[in-house]
Amino acid sequence: MKPVVVFDAYGTLFDVDRLVERAEAVAPGRGAEVVRLWRAKQLEYTWLRSLMGRYEDFWAVTRASLEFACEALDRSLSGPARDRLLEEFLRVPAFPDAPPALSQLCARGVRCCVFSNGTRAMVEAAVSSAGLGAYVDAVLSVDDEVRVYKPHPAAYAYVCRRLGIQPPQALFVSSNGFDVAGAAAYGFPTAWVNRRRLPAERLGATPVLVVQDLLQLAAAWV
Ligand code: LAC
Repeated sequence: MKPVVVFDAYGTLFDVDRLVERAEAVAPGRGAEVVRLWRAKQLEYTWLRSLMGRYEDFWAVTRASLEFACEALDRSLSGPARDRLLEEFLRVPAFPDAPPALSQLCARGVRCCVFSNGTRAMVEAAVSSAGLGAYVDAVLSVDDEVRVYKPHPAAYAYVCRRLGIQPPQALFVSSNGFDVAGAAAYGFPTAWVNRRRLPAERLGATPVLVVQDLLQLAAAWV
């Protein structure tokens, strides 16, 4: 069997902070704040909806969290401007290290998969606009079947079911500490891409690898 590496999408392959430039165009001087609150609320809503047992897909969560951020920070950010910013989430750029790292892993016979809270349409749009399509063997979404968000164990169980593997047979790669914790708790060996040099989350998970970017991961994972 080919070695399998499963990548988280947003924050790991795709740089949500790059949306600040787009947010600046619609909210001059407040782009960074808007994107920071948007992303924080987006994640918070996934966790709360999972706890509440009230799943709504990630596109709806992304819209709702942007609405909250705009209303909290800049009430003039409404209608068409806000919708344009929302659409930018479909074209969120990849980190510069993502294409060469995935290319190196593929060249070494690794099967690279993406597993995200994002809907398949959202993730496939980002993969394609970032030119990662040639390297990605499968896009998996919690929306396909389980309809509960990471870090719920059912989400990680879906990855194993879909790929026909046991957790120890894949490396799970994420820059989101909560995602590393969830995957490790489920039994995956994990790599934490600590792009922001953050302290480790106190969630009882020890990654087998800690790297600063995906090129370091590709170099370390042989
Ligand atoms: C994802 C979130 C965790 O891509 O960013 O699933």
